[in-house]
Parts: sequence; C-alpha cells; structure tokens
Amino acid sequence: MDALAPRPKPTIPPAFFGETVTWVHHWTDRLFSFRCTRDPTFRFVAGQFAMIGLMVEGKPLVRAYSVVSPPWDEELEFLSIKVQNGPLTSRLQHIKLGDTVLIGRKPTGTLLTENLLPGKTLWLLATGTGLAPFMSLIREPDVYERYEHVVVAHTVREVKELAYREIISKELPEHEFLGEMLRDKLLYYPSVTREPFPTQGRITTLLESGKVCTDLGLPPLSAEHDRVMLCGSEAMNADVKALLEARGFTEGSNNSPGTYVVEKAFVTK
Ligand code: A2P
Repeated sequence: MDALAPRPKPTIPPAFFGETVTWVHHWTDRLFSFRCTRDPTFRFVAGQFAMIGLMVEGKPLVRAYSVVSPPWDEELEFLSIKVQNGPLTSRLQHIKLGDTVLIGRKPTGTLLTENLLPGKTLWLLATGTGLAPFMSLIREPDVYERYEHVVVAHTVREVKELAYREIISKELPEHEFLGEMLRDKLLYYPSVTREPFPTQGRITTLLESGKVCTDLGLPPLSAEHDRVMLCGSEAMNADVKALLEARGFTEGSNNSPGTYVVEKAFVTK
C-alpha cells in the first residue's frame, strides 16, 4: 500500500461519529494538534470534552479530549500530547489528512460558564494540554458578556510548548468578529518553568505572591469578584484548589454553581 495514502475507512461503532482529519500540526516532539470534519448534529458547549480516538484492531480506542475549537466552528480541533508507548497517543500522533478519527457523540464536562456564579474576572488556569477547553471558551462570545476580564494563564515547561500563543496574543485581538469584543477583556499570561522567560514559574507561586494580579493590573484574587476554571495535572489542580479554598472559593459543578470549577487535563497516555 502507498505509505502516503489515507488508511481505508473503518466501520464506526454507533456511539461515535467517524470524522475525517483535515489538518495536523506538531508543536513539539511531545505535543500536537489536529482538526477534523464535524457532523452537523454534533453539538457541544465551550469547555466540554468528548471521547476521541481511533479504531484499533476492530475496536474503539478512545480517551477524553477537551474540544479546542469554539462551538461556532465548522470543524473540530483537539490538542494532544504524544507518549511513545501510550496506547492511543503513540498511534494518534501519526494521523494524516484523510484518516478517520472517532468522535464520541456525547460531549460532557464541568468547565462551563453556567457552573460559575456571576463575577468580574474569569481566570482560566491551565498547565500543558489543559489549555484545550479554554481555547474554546475564549472564542465564545457569551464569555465576554459575562465578564469584565478573562485571563488565560498557561504554564508549561518550555517556551515552545506555549501552544496557541500566536492565536491568543495576536490573532484573536485582530479577529474580524471577536476582536472588538475581546480586545480589552482578554488577558494572556503565559509562564514557563524550565527555561528563561519574562514570566517564569508555576502559576501557584505566581498567584501566592500576587505577581499575576500586579502584572495584569487586577485587584488581589478574591472569592467576591473572581471566578476560576482550572485544568491541569492532578498535582496542579490539587495545589490550586487548596490555594483557592484557603481564600474562601467554593467548587461548582453541573446544577450547583460555585466560584471555581475544575477538570483534569485528561490525556496522559
Ligand atoms: P514544573 O516544571 O515546575 O514541574 P507537565 O509537563 O509535567 O504536565 O507540567 C506542565 C507544567 O505544569 C510545568 O510547567 C510544571 O512545572 C507545572 N506544574 C507541575 N505540577 C504543578 C503543580 N503542582 N502546581 C503548579 N504547576 C505545576
């Protein structure tokens, strides 16, 4: 078989859509993004995740992936790590244009604006691929109607892992439809922990010291006017949760809004 030809179309189990890969971008040897077609009946809310994967030996091999693209986008986009011996990502990292990916029909998740009580500033705190759901949220106009400021704080080990940096800092403020709405509201705060960068260190340290608020010209973090969405590794989520709860924040969930919500940045294999 021609190595460059798309793989033959697999039979798709009923719980999934079989969608066609339209774009693949490798950020680093540990991180990539891809886009695929979107069934017109696939509906989701910004911040949700779905089960995504491949047919492997006649069976679906899937993991939870937050949708990167906004609900109004015609296609779907996802951000993934690459783990050489990971059952799914060792395969998924090799997908090519024209290949078929599985998209679970039932998106879900807690990182929804409706799970937060009204507030002034929305903080979207991510490490690594935890940025994914926030890429969808920051392109959702409704978010800017609810908040005066929306902060995207993304912490990674190395500068090259700051995926979507150009889109957040340059393209969105100039965006034809969203630009005017978000230009004065969207604040991007990237930080890097393992090489020199203007803002260095973990988000936990930067929040504890108050440096993030000072740098952004915002008042100190308070449960009264700040709302937080958290999406990182288990350790990062636990540390930020502790920091927030010490300041009187309460966790929200579906049907029970609070002053912060949390989700794991899922795919680790
Ligand atoms: P660090 O380099 O100090 O470990 P990873 O690639 O391991 O998922 O990490 C992504 C980013 O999350 C790294 O910059 C890492 O910082 C940071 N990180 C890891 N654990 C925590 C934690 N408990 N709290 C805050 N940030 C963390």
